[in-house]
Amino acid sequence: MYFNKYPFSQNFQFASGYEPKAHFQFAGETRPVEVNTCRPGIFRLTVRGASWDENYSQAELNPEAVEDGQPYQLEITPEGAIHLSNTDGQTLLQSLPQRTFGKCGTASMFRFCHQQEYRYYGAGSKVTGFEHTGLRTKFWNTDVFADFPLEQIVAGRPDPYYVSVPYLIIQTPAGWVGLLYNNPQATFLSIAARLKIESFTQVCTGDEDAILIGAESGQPDLFILAAPTLAALTRQFQQMVGTTPRPPLWALGYQQSRWGYRSVSQLQALREDFEQHDIPVDGLWLDIDYMDGFRVFTADPAENPDFAEEVMALSKAGHPVVPIIDPGVKMDPDYDVYQTGHAQNAFCKNPEGTEFVGLVWPGLTVFPDFSREEVRQWWADQAETFARQGFVGAWLDMNDPAAGKSNPYDMRFGADGEHPHETYHNQYALGMARATREGFERAHPEKRIFLLTRSNFLSGGKYAAVWTGDNVANFHYLRMMIPTCLNLSLSGIPFNGADVGGFDGDTCPELLRAWFKAAFLTPFFRNHSVLNSIKQEPWAFDQKTLEICRAFIRLRYLLMPYLYQQFIAQQEWGDAIMRPLFYDFNSSDELDLSYVDDAFMVGPSILHAPCLSEDETKRRIPLPAGQDWYQPFEDEWTTGGSPLQYTENAETSGVFFREGSIIPLRQDEPSANATDLLHVNFLIVGRPGTEREFSYHYTADDGDSLSYQDGVISTMDIHVRISEKRIEVEWAQPIDRYGKIVPAFSFVGAFDEIRVNGASVEAGENDFSKLWQHTMKGVRGTPSPTPFCGASV
Ligand code: NOJ
Repeated sequence: MYFNKYPFSQNFQFASGYEPKAHFQFAGETRPVEVNTCRPGIFRLTVRGASWDENYSQAELNPEAVEDGQPYQLEITPEGAIHLSNTDGQTLLQSLPQRTFGKCGTASMFRFCHQQEYRYYGAGSKVTGFEHTGLRTKFWNTDVFADFPLEQIVAGRPDPYYVSVPYLIIQTPAGWVGLLYNNPQATFLSIAARLKIESFTQVCTGDEDAILIGAESGQPDLFILAAPTLAALTRQFQQMVGTTPRPPLWALGYQQSRWGYRSVSQLQALREDFEQHDIPVDGLWLDIDYMDGFRVFTADPAENPDFAEEVMALSKAGHPVVPIIDPGVKMDPDYDVYQTGHAQNAFCKNPEGTEFVGLVWPGLTVFPDFSREEVRQWWADQAETFARQGFVGAWLDMNDPAAGKSNPYDMRFGADGEHPHETYHNQYALGMARATREGFERAHPEKRIFLLTRSNFLSGGKYAAVWTGDNVANFHYLRMMIPTCLNLSLSGIPFNGADVGGFDGDTCPELLRAWFKAAFLTPFFRNHSVLNSIKQEPWAFDQKTLEICRAFIRLRYLLMPYLYQQFIAQQEWGDAIMRPLFYDFNSSDELDLSYVDDAFMVGPSILHAPCLSEDETKRRIPLPAGQDWYQPFEDEWTTGGSPLQYTENAETSGVFFREGSIIPLRQDEPSANATDLLHVNFLIVGRPGTEREFSYHYTADDGDSLSYQDGVISTMDIHVRISEKRIEVEWAQPIDRYGKIVPAFSFVGAFDEIRVNGASVEAGENDFSKLWQHTMKGVRGTPSPTPFCGASV
């Protein structure tokens, strides 16, 4: 399979007709097709016959789980043209007669009409940019550093990437459309792409005004989703593919990793470094060197003589140890994991029917066949035993799958190797994540498990979060972080983040600081770097870098209750966590938000527009209209609508709180990692001098166990009324099964009169700007002596 070659529509035969409830008509033959309306606004077209009898997809798609949807109409004309419209008769998407569904050997494609006003997003994890017009791309999970030349990676946009989600989001003037090709084989998209011969001569393909979505083989199975807004479409899609289970709170905290951390005692020393530098940290990560000769599920006895005890001790001290788990198993007859796997016929086969052998860290390596339930059970057993040593999280790597210099096409699936490599390649990581999660959950049935994976497939977000793989320590990859994470977030994998500081190559203080500032609110926040690179822990450089990294980590912990609410909303409704500005706001005449790839929302209330270039301290920030914004770093209000010229200095960043929102913050000093969700300081972001009312619902639980599923939660409802310089807050706690929420309140404006549940509160007791400054301790001068908790009531 070539990465850069795609089935060409000129070689396809397109159906010339459509017989309702029966088939697509081709010259002299037919192909049965089923068209179903799964839910209002969700349609499914499945074509069968010839080489497509089986759909190998293991994606778990459950349209029945989608709660709401609006009615849309999907018509297919006798000439096979598709027409999608809303109840007002407006067209969202259409295709041409006799040019909609095509086949070429085992390949299939649907072809739709592109319109100039359309904008395109999604498509999982790609570093090809944010808005996808003109993109031609393939979905084939790739070990990028093994498969692309370094020069192309360092400053380029290697594609395909680690994750395959063949899902395209289209913004049309009449609403939002999602096209999903449920096929695990090599799938492709071409979006109004213009091609050149050998990069020089423009060529006319006939597809310049077309959207192509298809697969090189495998049963054609297309979902078409429609919704009035991106938020509604995202909920629909996320509910269909499964929302992200409520994570443990520790997984939202700052994570410290590095290829080179090889023992738990080293992590213990690392923890002391964090304490000494007064920096909160949660997970401490072990890369491949902790293992005994890279044997998965083992620990090197020389480096880790008391592995389980030390892991438990760190975990009890509030720092889960997160070990890397690679799928490759060392082909060593004296190693029990190999022995039991071999005895159970658990490994992939080569075309000759013996175990497929690849070349990864352990040397000769075999690969569990995660496509099979019995193998997933065997792997879950191994993972369970391993997790019992005290692990509640794991890091799944090399599951693209990476077989090194061995030809991956020789890796076949099925008990007798009956399925070609392509059938399960893209979903290998999905099976691994599913089996690992099962093992970890069995080991800790009372706990929430956190898994991070490099590769993934459609619907895999419910098993594991994703990081954006091996990036490079340069500003190009820093800039790429936001568009990549945004598209991933809209593609059903909202728990994501990049290697902060940059993975490959040496970072430098400027880059490290910029990365911490840019990433401190991304859903997953982990510093990670390659073996033998220059160190990049927060204290690795100068005092200034240390202070800035510390300040932004502390700000994340200050905002932890708010971040956690976004994960609850994700789990309950499928709301994106990190999202583009047009998720919550419409473009205006002055401000087109469609291409904004350097700013994002985190939940509905916080906008972040960091500086992303080496020499950039000034930037333009597209602040959405119809809205006032509070800038916590500057302690100022701004009105949205036109681009704001913002100047960042070393210790500030373009953070904006949306007026009319309530942001729950920690009440205590965020120097420790543990967040008490019952002691919350509710920041009321209401601008004095206005007349308005707004409400908020807050949920607390223990952040760690599954007791919330039995209703052990506490909730708080807050209502705010502002009238000129007077603000009234009313709150009630309808549910307190997890305990009493002890609220405090902070305000950002100069109000003359503040009343909380009728009682008057002294202005000044509750000045948020002091609190923010205090959190920036060590960066913005002397910490404020003000009590940290806001106005308690
Ligand atoms: C590749 C992963 O992407 C990287 O994060 C990790 O450090 C190395 N493998 C070594 O395990």
